[in-house]
Order: sequence, then structure tokens, then C-alpha cells
Amino acid sequence: MIIRVATAADAQYADQLCQWYIESAKTRGTGIAKREPAYVAKKMANGDSIIAFVDGELAGFCYIETFEDNTFVVNSGLVVNAEIRKSGVGRAIKQGVFNLSRSKYPNAKIFGITTSLAVMKINTELGYKPVTFSELTSSEDFWKGCKSCKNYGILMENERKMCLCTGMVFDANAPLVQIQVPDFAAVTQDQLPVSPDSAS
Ligand SMILES: CC(C)(COP(=O)(O)OP(=O)(O)OC[C@H]1O[C@@H](n2cnc3c(N)ncnc32)[C@H](O)[C@@H]1OP(=O)(O)O)[C@@H](O)C(=O)NCCC(=O)NCCS
Repeated sequence: MIIRVATAADAQYADQLCQWYIESAKTRGTGIAKREPAYVAKKMANGDSIIAFVDGELAGFCYIETFEDNTFVVNSGLVVNAEIRKSGVGRAIKQGVFNLSRSKYPNAKIFGITTSLAVMKINTELGYKPVTFSELTSSEDFWKGCKSCKNYGILMENERKMCLCTGMVFDANAPLVQIQVPDFAAVTQDQLPVSPDSAS
């Protein structure tokens, strides 16, 4: 497998990638997140995307979008050729685009919204945490991307505070926290609070 930052010369793959976007949206039944080949090609030319090849064939892709003066970064449009899924390509591309995001925008919050279990797993491994939508960008440019989703009505009914997607954030500026774990073994039974239901 070859994974690298895409360049302008990769524009030849933009049509194929957009076709995969259409097919995967149909399969998932979420509505089509419309991406034009020209937009994908621009991401490639700007050095804002990662492309993968397996045995010389196009295998997958993902690109970076930025919001609010680069304070929020999204790794969007992750897609892997349907014939080679579940063999680690998606994870490798996500790691690549995450590294690219960290090097280009070291102070940004990197976030995503997803219903995909695979993406949730990979994001968690990368250090993302689940959050409510209040922690995500308020940029109209980001949220207008949800318009083509069939659940857009639910999002708007909830004033963009929640929807069926899970929001996840990697916060570059979050301090490292050592969680204090109580020593439960030291608590004897009669020190435990009595629940009102069990008190008789
Ligand atoms: C999501 C997608 C990119 C994953 O790519 P992939 O190459 O299959 O992913 P990987 O093989 O690296 O798998 C990563 C993890 O997710 C799991 N996974 C992959 N596909 C899964 C699925 N459909 N359901 C549940 N888990 C899945 C893998 O088992 C692996 O976890 P594990 O290591 O604990 O076993 C790919 O399925 C795809 O292109 N889907 C269509 C587009 C899409 O949904 N993009 C995401 C939009 S948010």
C-alpha cells in the first residue's frame, strides 16, 4: 500500500472518488453529501488530502477542511474502495490525514461528526473524545454540508445541538489530565450511601 499527500497530478482520480461517494451514500441511506470532482481536485492541488493505492490501484482518500480561521479542522470525505474494505486501509488513511492536519494546523481542534462505527473506532484510537455539538464549529459553511443528509430536519429541529451523528473532537490544546480513581477497596459496606429504594 502507498499512502501519500495527494498532488495536482492526482486530479485524474477525482471522478472515481466522487463516484464512490455517491455509491457509499446510497448504501448507507444517508443522502448524498455532494462533492464535485473540481472540489476534490482543488484539495489535491492544495496539499490538503491523503490518497492511497493498493497494487497500483486507487484504494482510498480523505481531505482536510478548515473553519473559523483554521481553529477547527475536519478530516472529511474518508472513502475506501468497497472491494478492499475491512483490511486496514481506512485506518491508515485516517492516520495519514490526521498527521497532515496536525502538522499544517497544530493548534486546531480536529473534529468530525459520524454515524460510522469504523470511523468512531479509528477516531477513538487517535485520541478523539465524543462531545455534544456545542463543542464543534459554529461555522455555517460546515453545517450547510449536512443539508443533503436525510436527517437534516432532525438537526434543525434540535437547533443544531444534536442529531443522529456523534460529534468527536481531538483538542490539541486540552491539558493532559490524570484521572483520580478512588480506592473502592478501601470503602467498607457501611460507608456506602444507602439508596432510598433499599432503605426500609
Ligand atoms: C468507513 C470506511 C472508510 C472504513 O474503511 P476500512 O478500510 O474498511 O476500515 P479499516 O479496515 O481500517 O477498519 C477500521 C476499524 O473499523 C472496523 N470496521 C470497518 N468497517 C466496519 C463496518 N462497516 N462496521 C463496523 N466496523 C467496521 C474494522 O473492523 C476496524 O476495527 P478493528 O480493528 O477493531 O477490527 C469504509 O467502510 C468506507 O469507505 N465507507 C464508505 C464511506 C464512509 O462511510 N465514510 C465515512 C464517513 S463518516
